Amino acid sequence: MNEQNAAMEIAPADGRLGILLVGLGAVSTTTIAGVESIRRGLAKPIGSLTQMATVRLGKRTEHRSPLIKELVPLAELDDIVFGAWDPIPDDAYDSARHCGVLKPEDLEPIADFMRTIKPMPAVFDKDYVKKLDGTNVKTGENKLELAEQLRADIRRFKEENGCARVVIVWAASTEIFLTPQRVHDTVESLEQAMRENHQAIAPSMVYAYAALMEGVPFANGAPNLTVDLPAMIELSARTGAPIAGKDFKTGQTLMKTILAPGLKVRMLGLNGWFSTNILGNRDGEVLDDPESFKTKEESKLGALEHILQPEMYPDLYSDMYHKVRINYYPPRGDNKEGWDNIDIFGWMGYPMQIKIDFLCRDSILAAPIVLDLALFMDLASRAGLSGIQEWLSFYLKAPQVGEGLYPEHDIFIQHMKLKNTIRWMAGEDQITHLGNDYNDD
Ligand SMILES: NC(=O)c1ccc[n+]([C@@H]2O[C@H](COP(=O)([O-])OP(=O)(O)OC[C@H]3O[C@@H](n4cnc5c(N)ncnc54)[C@H](O)[C@@H]3O)[C@@H](O)[C@H]2O)c1
Repeated sequence: MNEQNAAMEIAPADGRLGILLVGLGAVSTTTIAGVESIRRGLAKPIGSLTQMATVRLGKRTEHRSPLIKELVPLAELDDIVFGAWDPIPDDAYDSARHCGVLKPEDLEPIADFMRTIKPMPAVFDKDYVKKLDGTNVKTGENKLELAEQLRADIRRFKEENGCARVVIVWAASTEIFLTPQRVHDTVESLEQAMRENHQAIAPSMVYAYAALMEGVPFANGAPNLTVDLPAMIELSARTGAPIAGKDFKTGQTLMKTILAPGLKVRMLGLNGWFSTNILGNRDGEVLDDPESFKTKEESKLGALEHILQPEMYPDLYSDMYHKVRINYYPPRGDNKEGWDNIDIFGWMGYPMQIKIDFLCRDSILAAPIVLDLALFMDLASRAGLSGIQEWLSFYLKAPQVGEGLYPEHDIFIQHMKLKNTIRWMAGEDQITHLGNDYNDD
């Protein structure tokens, strides 16, 4: 191993890790219930790379494939303590029962634990999530003061639970569509805008600001701007707290980013991709509001453009029509159904069609993402990595990238980037798949 490949200095994952979740709804309660069930030996961590995935090291002939968690120091599940904020005062048990993702027979054995997680009062404003009402809400002079209250919550939580470190994941409702404005440019202008209760400062930004000021990593699981702003990037660099976003990559977009790279590598053309969904959970209800849907729509539409690169392959992709719909349909609850109709064409332009009917469970797909993001963000922080953690794009529908870069949406490239980042941290060689050196042995 040469000098360049020296392992990074990563502080050990000693002590407890607090995972503070903004929002204690379907995704959060499914995450918490899953982690506790795994800790009690009642379930396996299916879907989680931090718990199950291996990483190949060196040449294939070396047969070295440790688990990721054996290669880099990750917090143990037993060391995790959960906390949350939510404008709805239900504890994690009541909320999980209400959300209806998990069956009562899976919740009852851990009911005692779920009852202990009670949400702290939220920074909430109905102007940003029109379809919600909440009573468990903080009040304050202005948004900067609300951020101070959140900072106090973080410190108190850490102290009361004996946590060595904390990470925050936004798993709260999707806010209305906002575009970056001048007030988001610098930390100073952001603080001034918070002081003035400026409308461009959404509640999610108040949480992100509070987290970063406390040096706490912040991952954004919804499509809101939140940390995808110059001021937040600046603050992250200042305080050394890593950031990542946006929007957990679950059901339909997961399928899209698995399938589209396959069509592209075979140089098959695409005329159109129509995606529609029915879902009946609270997320679906919030997204029934056109302003929240617009935020989600933007997040979902980007993937295909970036994967297929119509500007480089005009014969294949320049005429593609992409449409995404989400319909609120209460009878389905969290069990979403997503249909895709894909019109492709091949040799001599002959048309073909692919139909996908994915009967998925959104929160079941999202929960391991929350766990992995929290553990990897904590790792990044201990490794001294601040700013945007692009290697975590794998988990995100609209990956945040630095200025001037386009986001990488192809899940296989994202996966390689994630594993190569792990190898890099551990001081192991990158795997290029070139394979020429096998012939030189
Ligand atoms: N389920 C998925 O697969 C998936 C995938 C990608 C993104 N997401 C996003 O994750 C988020 C959570 O999804 P969910 O299915 O758990 O929704 P949910 O409606 O069940 O839970 C969201 C919770 O956030 C709370 N909340 C709203 N505003 C808040 C605030 N300002 N502070 C604290 N809490 C607040 C709500 O009261 C609610 O309890 C949504 O934004 C959703 O779009 C979910």
